[in-house]
Amino acid sequence: MALRSLICRKTLGLASSSGFKLQFRGLQTFSLPDLPYDYGALEPAISGEIMQIHHQKHHQTYITNYNKALEQLHHAIEKGDSSAVVKLQSAIKFNGGGHINHSIFWKSLSPVCEGGGESPHGSLGWAIDEHYGSLDALIQKMSTEGAALQGSGWVWLGLDKESKKLVVETTVNQDPLVTKGPLVPLLGIDVWEHAYYLQDHVTIGFDYD
Ligand SMILES: [Fe+2]
Repeated sequence: MALRSLICRKTLGLASSSGFKLQFRGLQTFSLPDLPYDYGALEPAISGEIMQIHHQKHHQTYITNYNKALEQLHHAIEKGDSSAVVKLQSAIKFNGGGHINHSIFWKSLSPVCEGGGESPHGSLGWAIDEHYGSLDALIQKMSTEGAALQGSGWVWLGLDKESKKLVVETTVNQDPLVTKGPLVPLLGIDVWEHAYYLQDHVTIGFDYD
């Protein structure tokens, strides 16, 4: 399969610190996490150009606006301005969710030389077969859910901590999966147009060879 022929490249020169938090005027602020691979390491499945813009522009913008909203929240609390605190909730949820979701998304992807493209095995593989019948059936379900999503959002494969079952869920905008109850995200697919708009198609597949 084509994914097998990819050449693995080590992470090189990615901007930003690997630290998630920096001190800023006495507040904890968030910073852009490094990707665990080079921007071009997922080609041809996802182009390096898209990965770079997605990471450096879009994810960074969520973080910038998240930090801005948190700073405003800090000042609003100091002033005892309850109206201002409540007004900031949507900005905190949207931008904080964008930061959470993208931080999960980067770790969901992997170059072929590091196991990307291989079908799940072990307990995850067994759980997929048990709950969905096959990996193909799960891919089909996630694709269908993503196509049916109105507007922008995410498709998730999650684990319900209470029932111990796999679930496929969607969230709108940048709502994190944790807003859906006791669900732990295992895989997140970004259905925002900014994740693929520069590419005619994005190949999602597994190597069965
Ligand atoms: Fe995104």
